[in-house]
Amino acid sequence: MATRINVVAGDVTQYETPALVVNLFQGVTQPGGATGAIDRALDGAISALIADGEIKGKVGEFTLIHALNRIAARRVVVAGLGKAEDFDAAIVRRVSGEVARFLRRKGVKSFATIAHGAGIGGLDAGASGQAIAEGTLLGLYKFDAYRTNGNGSGADGAGGDADDAGAAIGEVAVVERDAGSVDALRAGVSVGATLAEAAMLARDLVNHPANIMTPTRMAEAARAVADETGLELDIIDRDRMTEHGMGALLGVAQGSEEPPKLIVLTYRGDAEHPENNLGLVGKGITFDTGGISLKPAANMEAMKGDMAGGASVIAAMRAIGALRPKINVTGLIAAAENMPGGRAQRPGDVVTAMNGKTIEVINTDAEGRLVLADALCYARQLGITRLVDVATLTGAMVVTLGKACTGIMGNSSALAQSIQTAGASSGERFWELPMLEDYRELINSDVADMKNSGGRQAGSITAAMLLREFAEDADWVHLDIAGTSTAASSKGHLVKGATGVPTRTLAQLAVNLAK
Ligand code: BES
Ligand code: MN
Ligand code: ZN
Repeated sequence: MATRINVVAGDVTQYETPALVVNLFQGVTQPGGATGAIDRALDGAISALIADGEIKGKVGEFTLIHALNRIAARRVVVAGLGKAEDFDAAIVRRVSGEVARFLRRKGVKSFATIAHGAGIGGLDAGASGQAIAEGTLLGLYKFDAYRTNGNGSGADGAGGDADDAGAAIGEVAVVERDAGSVDALRAGVSVGATLAEAAMLARDLVNHPANIMTPTRMAEAARAVADETGLELDIIDRDRMTEHGMGALLGVAQGSEEPPKLIVLTYRGDAEHPENNLGLVGKGITFDTGGISLKPAANMEAMKGDMAGGASVIAAMRAIGALRPKINVTGLIAAAENMPGGRAQRPGDVVTAMNGKTIEVINTDAEGRLVLADALCYARQLGITRLVDVATLTGAMVVTLGKACTGIMGNSSALAQSIQTAGASSGERFWELPMLEDYRELINSDVADMKNSGGRQAGSITAAMLLREFAEDADWVHLDIAGTSTAASSKGHLVKGATGVPTRTLAQLAVNLAK
């Protein structure tokens, strides 16, 4: 059951709810605003706990107080917001996710909250509403598709993360006294819910196992998005890939019984100006065994998530279709399975991509760059002049940046800056790596235009160097989400498993570039 978030105008002391969330900055001894009103109605219970040192206001601190009929709410939760000088929308997103899971563990089925940061925090009401919606919905996300006992993990001992315990929360009310802020708050909640729902679609696609989430199923997921939001859909099959000369994509797919799909979703937000365009290109390897260059068995199951880039593109296209910015956006997902079947490509094979460039396949496990090469060529043929590709491309990326941020590489510092700007509002973080010409020689081949592995040095950058050959003269950036597409544990708006990164940033990018 989906959680609904409603904005309600009124006085928090009068609002009937199983639990009311108020907040406190670190170091504040006499709470003001809505928290102060609740403190007075509770005969100073909150300020007394502050004086006792039990409430400090640190981020991640949640103090539950039973109201015992002194206010309309049954319980109050005081959520720490940390130091006022460190406060931003990311804190609201984090606190919203964590307090929602905290209350779910307590068995609460609905709760109310004040709009964090909209008062002395200095956030505008829209930004506060958006961050509350994103944090709450994303933080409560569960993937239960394969649990047969209905409500799944945790409390009933069916496995999963203890943090996941508790039944679904049906409704969250954001209670705001200032009638003048209600419309902005509501608009922010609406955008936040749209972006969070898109990111949760990406999470679902990634969390499904590879026996279910095949290239064919990814195409069906794209069809559902197209039907829902009125996008155009084209699914390019093996025969049409052959006609287009997509030898790099076909080479990866030939070791699998699963037919590859190049999925093309088109949103026309500015049909009179075709030059006002953006292309989002996603790696959709539904399972990466490594192919003949077979991966070791340990953790290979994680390679069901090698389509996370493609999933984020499908999901971002849904958000873009709903938000309808004035820009033309095309989503292209190169979906294939990398298997070591009897027809599989071999190390040493040479493939020719759609633009005629040849690649020596040194390592069949460097397959993502091969499928993206043809997807980038196809995007160029469609006339797209501004390209962002998203891929779980290299293990080296996880070594370089870990899970804290996504690597950016590309040929356009302006487009890289646009990603950073979009990331600053989504809270998804990025770090740019240098595309120095020196790295190009690492992928020089003895027999072809390039080889698909540059060896141990600068592995994420040499992968990007190969992609650059296929973006040609388009403005292009590559986002390597090998680390950030999954979370090892639940924290803030993230829960263990797929993160949906960078769905919200991609949608925000389209909105920001619209004119
Ligand atoms: N899908 C992997 C990269 C990956 C590794 C993603 C770990 C997420 C977590 C990619 O296809 C791959 O296998 N890359 C190779 C490239 C190498 C053979 C040049 C890698 O990183 O080892
Ligand atoms: Mn691989
Ligand atoms: Zn891969």
